[in-house]
Formats: sequence, structure tokens, C-alpha cells
Amino acid sequence: MTRVIFDCDPGIDDTYALIYLAAANHAGELELDCVTTTAGNVEAEQCAQNAAFVLAQCGLTTVPIAAGVPGPLEVELTTTPETHGETGLGYITAPQRHVDTDWDLLWIDAIERGTEDLHLIVTGPMTNLAAFARLHPQHFHALRHITAMGGAVNYPGNTTPTAEWNFWVDPHAAAEVFNIARTPITLCPLNATEQMLLEPRRLQGVVDKLGQAPIAANLAEITRFYFEFHQEVGEGYRAQIHDLLTVLIALDKVESTVCLTTLDVEPTSALLRGTVAADLRGMWEREPNARVVEQADVAGAWAEFERACEIHAQFAAGDAGLAAGYHRKAED
Ligand code: BDR
Ligand code: CA
Repeated sequence: MTRVIFDCDPGIDDTYALIYLAAANHAGELELDCVTTTAGNVEAEQCAQNAAFVLAQCGLTTVPIAAGVPGPLEVELTTTPETHGETGLGYITAPQRHVDTDWDLLWIDAIERGTEDLHLIVTGPMTNLAAFARLHPQHFHALRHITAMGGAVNYPGNTTPTAEWNFWVDPHAAAEVFNIARTPITLCPLNATEQMLLEPRRLQGVVDKLGQAPIAANLAEITRFYFEFHQEVGEGYRAQIHDLLTVLIALDKVESTVCLTTLDVEPTSALLRGTVAADLRGMWEREPNARVVEQADVAGAWAEFERACEIHAQFAAGDAGLAAGYHRKAED
């Protein structure tokens, strides 16, 4: 069965990815092996609290969760309260919960159980992945399926004119990972993920489909902040749900077109920090290190997410014993 290590920085669009993964786990479509967090949208520890809260609200309390490296490899951590709110979950504050320590041991356990069906999906800065490669190079190179959200490939950035947020926050990590990768990494850049737009009407449909699942009661307040942010920056009262699309692409749940290429990330230049250069004409004569997603079937992606919401509703309303256990766990 497909197993997933989800490395994220929730974060509002990361939250949608967690909701999807929890549903697929409930349905037995995959096993969510562990969730680890990077410092990005908020600090790594806060991201872990947020992930624990979201998963609990989705009725999933058995997945190990741990905070990863506390900050970028070489630059100061910058967080983004204006985009995801002070807590990282918009207008919602996650209660404090117990989370695991030793994030890298969670990855090692997962890898040692086999890598054929194991997907590592990264939707925050690449700090943990780069640190893992330094600490455990053999385990890093054993990973066969890595998918990441990041970068803008010959496309306007969302943080500087040329850089996307995840790559800009820890440009050294992104550069290092692509420099050492032996198996091409599937990269979901802004080019594709900005098309994954959520509007208020669709959100209402999502909340309705979630039924009695506890997350349904919080999702609108989490997302309202994100809608307002996008409106403030001129994108309209809607939101780009980058990380959900990334997870769906990683798991092959949506049609997409990809381009196999070699890319590099600029770590140091003040103007070009976090900018991706892609060798689309093969002029560097280097082995490909990336499968860059160019386009994805966004309508299909939303349909798949809505199917996941229905799974949550069924799970929450399941037989009396199951539903009772579910609500008890969600309130823990
Ligand atoms: C990425 O940056 C973060 O703010 C989002 O969670 C997403 O992973 C988009 O640039
Ligand atoms: Ca993210």
C-alpha cells in the first residue's frame, strides 16, 4: 500500500492537504506514516501543534507527528503571519498537544519499512529534507518518490519578482537538495499550484460535504484569513491551495503534464534569492534532477478533494461505536 511521509508547515493550504491525507488514510487508500513539520509559515513547533490539531479534528490521532529543524540552514527564519495568521491557522488557535521528538527517526523507520511505495511529500521549505540528506545520506538516497511544492519556473514569484515562498525561506536547502538528488524530484511550482483556486462558494460546498466531521466547524474560520490575504494582495476574495494540489499530484490522483529537466536554485544573491533556473534546453549537460509540473487538472483535483470530504462525513457518521470513538478522540 502507498505510504506517505508528509513534511509540511501548516499553514492554511497545508491544512487542506492534511484533510485529504486523513480521509485517504481512513478509507484505507494509503497509510499516513508520519507528519513532520518545517519552520516556514510559522515556527516548526507551532506547525506541529497545528498538524496535530487538524488531524485530531479529522479523527486521526494515531499518526506520529514531530517538529523538524527549527530554522533554515543558513539564513534567519522568516515566517508569514500576514498570509496564514499569527497561529498559522488563520483565525483559529490550536490547543497545545503532545507531539513526538526525533523527526528524522520517524523518517528512518518509514524508509526501513521499504521505499517502493513510500512517498515523501514536502509542502514547506526544504530544510528538513536537506538536513536529513546531511545526517543520513544513505537513507536519503533510498527515497524513490519525492514531491515538493516550491519554486516558480520561468514564472513570476510570490515573494520576490522571481522567487516562491518555500524556496525563498530556505534557499540553501532547496539548492542543496537539487544538487545532490540522484532521482528526479517532482516539483509543483507556482506555475501549476496558483491555478488551484478556492472560492467562497466551493468552500461552502466542502464544509457541507464534511458533514459532522469536527474540522467542518473550523475550516471556514481558518480559510477566511487566507481569502482576506489574497484579496489584500490583489488576487480577489479567493485562495490558492498550493499544497493540496501538490499532494494530489504526488499520489497521482490528478492528471498533470510534467517536464523532465535539470534545475538549480540561487541561494545567495540578494535580488535572486530562491530563484529557480531550469535548463530546459539541456545546455548544462547534467543529469535531470526534477520533474517539473507544468499544468494539472484542477477541476479533477477539486472533485477528488470533495470525495475525500465525503469520506470524512461517512467516517464521522459511521456506525454508533465508530462514530462515538471518533468524536471522543477528536475532543482529546
Ligand atoms: C507556499 O508557501 C506557503 O505559504 C504555502 O503553504 C505554500 O506551501 C506557496 O508559495
Ligand atoms: Ca506550505
